[in-house]
Amino acid sequence: MKVIITAIAFLMPIFSSSALSASTSNATSDSGLVIKNNDPRIHFNGRWDESPGTWWASSGLKLHVQNLKSLSLNLGPHTTVPLASVGVSLNYGEITTVNVSQGVNGIFRESAALQVGTSEGDLSVVRLNVEGWQDNRINLESISLNSDATLLSYVPSKLAFQFIGDSLSAGQFLPEGVDQAWTFLTGEHFKAEHNINAQPGAALSDIVSFGNEHGVSFQFFRTEDTGYFDTTDHNFTTPWNFSRDQPPATHVVIHIGANDAAQNVTDAAFVQVYSNFLVRLRTIYTHQPIFVFTPWGWPNADGTISQYYQGQYQIIVDQRHSIGDDQVFLVNTTGWVTFEDVFPANQHPTVAGHQKITRLFTQWLQKWGLDPELEWATPA
Ligand SMILES: *[C@@H]1O[C@H](CO)[C@@H](O)[C@H](O)[C@H]1NC(C)=O
Ligand SMILES: *[C@@H]1O[C@H](CO)[C@@H](O)[C@H](O)[C@H]1NC(C)=O
Ligand SMILES: *[C@@H]1O[C@H](CO)[C@@H](O)[C@H](O)[C@H]1NC(C)=O
Ligand SMILES: *[C@@H]1O[C@H](CO)[C@@H](O)[C@H](O)[C@H]1NC(C)=O
Ligand SMILES: *[C@@H]1O[C@H](CO)[C@@H](O)[C@H](O)[C@H]1NC(C)=O
Ligand SMILES: *[C@@H]1O[C@H](CO)[C@@H](O)[C@H](O)[C@H]1NC(C)=O
Repeated sequence: MKVIITAIAFLMPIFSSSALSASTSNATSDSGLVIKNNDPRIHFNGRWDESPGTWWASSGLKLHVQNLKSLSLNLGPHTTVPLASVGVSLNYGEITTVNVSQGVNGIFRESAALQVGTSEGDLSVVRLNVEGWQDNRINLESISLNSDATLLSYVPSKLAFQFIGDSLSAGQFLPEGVDQAWTFLTGEHFKAEHNINAQPGAALSDIVSFGNEHGVSFQFFRTEDTGYFDTTDHNFTTPWNFSRDQPPATHVVIHIGANDAAQNVTDAAFVQVYSNFLVRLRTIYTHQPIFVFTPWGWPNADGTISQYYQGQYQIIVDQRHSIGDDQVFLVNTTGWVTFEDVFPANQHPTVAGHQKITRLFTQWLQKWGLDPELEWATPA
């Protein structure tokens, strides 16, 4: 699908809470306790380069803090100019967007509304991640906490999803980006860790597509998303070390093909590239269940749905079964998304559309046999 980056009037961001705010002045931040960016108590997720800096929507970090009153991110020169939008959640509550830039960014101002540090010794969990599929680089130099805070270790959930896809999984066109996408919301529903490697406009085939220099069958194995190609301070791509995905994914979900179809990749070529991709994924995810989505298609105003690669996903899954891999499952999403669920201008799911997809997929997974965790592994 086309990468359309112009702002759309009806997509004005809506912020449900004013409890969080970023400040690039240092005045409100207490830089008493400085946590270095290599502190093992920081739980990183997603793809971070050596700087260390984020790539791919959803990359971020999690902190478990006792007696939290203030928190600043001190960001370096590889941070997106003028800003990167970060989704922040305190104690597993709703996500609020905070825009951050190079320099000192106070995330929590001491405030009654915020409920941090209300009583001495309280435990807090802070989760934050970049929301955008582009303009998504935060270069972490250090984190400052109030001087009487104690940084503890974050214990990850024993469930961990790895999502792989394109714009339909990256939350393109949503006000809060990936944080409102079905991928992210599915992870939240199961109280699971989740990494989302989804690149708008990219095909699975390693071809140039809508501004992406590479396809996902190449880029998934790299640290950087395809935005590296348009970047002056990091115009290269490096292999991703999958041992850094901690915990390793327990479930892999793939929804891809729209851009291969748009680039006229034939059925046979698509089945071949997908099959090769699964072979390579199995070198990393040796036994984990892999869920292969059929497309829900492009819903049209007249009620029809434009489909692509019909029947081909079944062939891909059948091929895995025929070589003895019974842990690959077809998720038939036919009928999940109608014209009411998409933005008419670009046929991508709206916020409500993503919530509907989340409901249908979580029901599907629960029927398949996966139950949500009852509690997050790190208490707050
Ligand atoms: C913020 O910190 C920088 C570097 O430590 C310093 O140069 C600047 O004066 C500070 N600004 C404020 C508003 O305190
Ligand atoms: C973040 O920045 C974007 C882009 O400039 C802007 O549209 C949005 O309103 C900002 N959000 C907040 C919470 O400041
Ligand atoms: C990045 O490098 C490629 C060659 O590898 C070049 O074609 C491209 O123009 C460069 N991009 C920028 C922004 O310099
Ligand atoms: C990959 O990451 C693991 C875990 O952080 C580390 O032990 C290992 O040395 C890394 N391997 C390479 C080749 O960098
Ligand atoms: C794909 O095929 C259609 C129909 O033949 C054609 O209009 C379109 O230009 C082709 N697109 C590409 C990217 O080759
Ligand atoms: C997917 O579901 C649709 C609608 O229920 C059905 O027509 C189609 O045959 C199913 N496809 C597969 C591969 O099971």
